[in-house]
Amino acid sequence: FFAASSNKRLAGKTVLVTAGPTREKIDPVRFISNHSSGKMGYALAAEAKKQGANVILVSGPVGITPPVGVDLIKVESAEDMFNAVIENFESSDVIIKTAAVADYRPKYVYDQKVKKQDGDTMIELERTKDILFELGKRKKNQLLVGFAAETNNVVDYAKKKLIKKNADMIIANNVKVEGAGFGTDTNIVTIVKKDGSITELPLMSKSEVAEKIIEEVSLLLKGLEN
Ligand code: CTP
Ligand code: CA
Repeated sequence: FFAASSNKRLAGKTVLVTAGPTREKIDPVRFISNHSSGKMGYALAAEAKKQGANVILVSGPVGITPPVGVDLIKVESAEDMFNAVIENFESSDVIIKTAAVADYRPKYVYDQKVKKQDGDTMIELERTKDILFELGKRKKNQLLVGFAAETNNVVDYAKKKLIKKNADMIIANNVKVEGAGFGTDTNIVTIVKKDGSITELPLMSKSEVAEKIIEEVSLLLKGLEN
């Protein structure tokens, strides 16, 4: 009777996925953001669900329909995303940080639309919280998976991020390569793991990449159990 659940890799696990860009307000009509489409994160949420996990999808503003059966938490700013992730951190077994979180936000958010003025050429910025870094400090048994979109020295930067953020796996991609990165339906990624292993995957659809990542995640989870 229980045969159906036995081949699902993530049955009984809670997976939190962050996806999409964040938006950092300047005033009521303007914001700072980036080109993240959310496709990779939504594909991961769908695959985790398919593998039997309870899925929490914390998503910035994107134009795609969430996979059926996931708990969607919509956020805008990096600060909103931080709060939503922290709230669900302890009850999660795996956190996959696909989101392209803004690194800076305007220091002042104006209530009224800012009018242009001669000589006014600067917006003062301040750093946002690094969510993955904060999770790395707090983590107990959770698996932390980060992403690194780079344009050069991809694996080197990914290794540095893995260590700095105390992550278990970093999925690196070169967004300058045709077929990889923002907006596309395909991706070319390299998986960098804490044990030092580096796996280069060929060009694949984002759902195939998601399958592969979820497979790697479930193997690491098995390792934790043994
Ligand atoms: N990240 C995060 N919070 C931030 C910035 C990044 O959680 N404020 C996460 C991303 O979701 C991703 C990982 O950290 O999983 C790496 O993001 P990336 O932008 O590649 O790295 P940064 O550490 O921000 O470094 P830089 O942008 O300077 O390369
Ligand atoms: Ca960044």
